[in-house]
Amino acid sequence: MTFILQNNEENMMKDKICLVTGGSSGVGKATATGLAALGAEIILVSRDESKAGETISLIKMQTGNEKISWMYADFSVQSSIKEFAARFKERYDRLHLLSNTAGMIQLNREETPEGIEKTLAVDYLSHFLISNLLIDLLRKGSPSRIITVAGGLRLIRNVKINFNDIQFQKGYNGLKAAVQAARARVVFSAELAGRLSGTGITSNAFQPGFVKTGMGNNFPQPLRFMSKLIQPFLSNECKTSVYLASSPEVENITGKFFGKSKPHDFSYDPAEGKRLWELSLQLTGL
Ligand SMILES: NC(=O)c1ccc[n+]([C@@H]2O[C@H](COP(=O)([O-])OP(=O)(O)OC[C@H]3O[C@@H](n4cnc5c(N)ncnc54)[C@H](OP(=O)(O)O)[C@@H]3O)[C@@H](O)[C@H]2O)c1
Repeated sequence: MTFILQNNEENMMKDKICLVTGGSSGVGKATATGLAALGAEIILVSRDESKAGETISLIKMQTGNEKISWMYADFSVQSSIKEFAARFKERYDRLHLLSNTAGMIQLNREETPEGIEKTLAVDYLSHFLISNLLIDLLRKGSPSRIITVAGGLRLIRNVKINFNDIQFQKGYNGLKAAVQAARARVVFSAELAGRLSGTGITSNAFQPGFVKTGMGNNFPQPLRFMSKLIQPFLSNECKTSVYLASSPEVENITGKFFGKSKPHDFSYDPAEGKRLWELSLQLTGL
């Protein structure tokens, strides 16, 4: 498969610096590939040199874009995210796109070395932290965009963030934790949009559709086998994230939840956004 686009499109993101967390696989990889095809400079975040290297070679081959690199960070560990942000700022003086696309599913409850439940840490708090740590670079790159992956709208609408036990001290369930984190990402994305009003930085969340994923790779059998079975039915592309990250049509749209490149109704109680923001500040020490 090749992503090389027609001449009028291939330079649309030329000179744009795009940081794609989770860029080595799944939604992040599809987003990075789509943006590379539009001429962007891409920096992937990964914990794994060989996985990042393979993805970079593939993206270069598929798009002909050589401006693809990676940087190390473990997004389950806040000190690693902070150290990464500092290294990123030494290397780049501006940022045009932050794609919050790292994520995972953790079947059994685990805590990070910093004592935070791991799904909350990777699937939500890492996005909160990196977005806040890189805001000054996004300001310098403005007009700039933050896009944040979520999940199915129906699931997210129907779930509540359990502020009394957001880290599932009781009754952990990997799917419930992932859906709660997905809601947190959408509420955070909209809350962030309000806080960034007038800065030239937009913040939107998106439902990626069904994209090839590595999420089942660490599952025990037979779940791993089932995950492999569905891969041929999933897409290598994520049109919605690439649209949100690049299209002039959405340059001034902010605080929305997109699916299939269209905004969907998603409303939340502003008190939920404020409470989540304050809790996230506490949990990240910002
Ligand atoms: N795929 C879909 O169709 C789909 C649909 C709805 C929602 N989502 C959501 O999108 C998110 C990503 O899913 P995916 O399908 O892209 O998964 P994936 O194929 O497994 O990719 C996950 C990415 O996240 C990165 N990552 C995971 N843990 C990390 C950590 N501790 N530190 C740094 N990076 C980390 C991985 O990087 P390294 O392993 O290289 O470090 C990898 O690049 C998940 O939250 C998922 O729920 C996906």
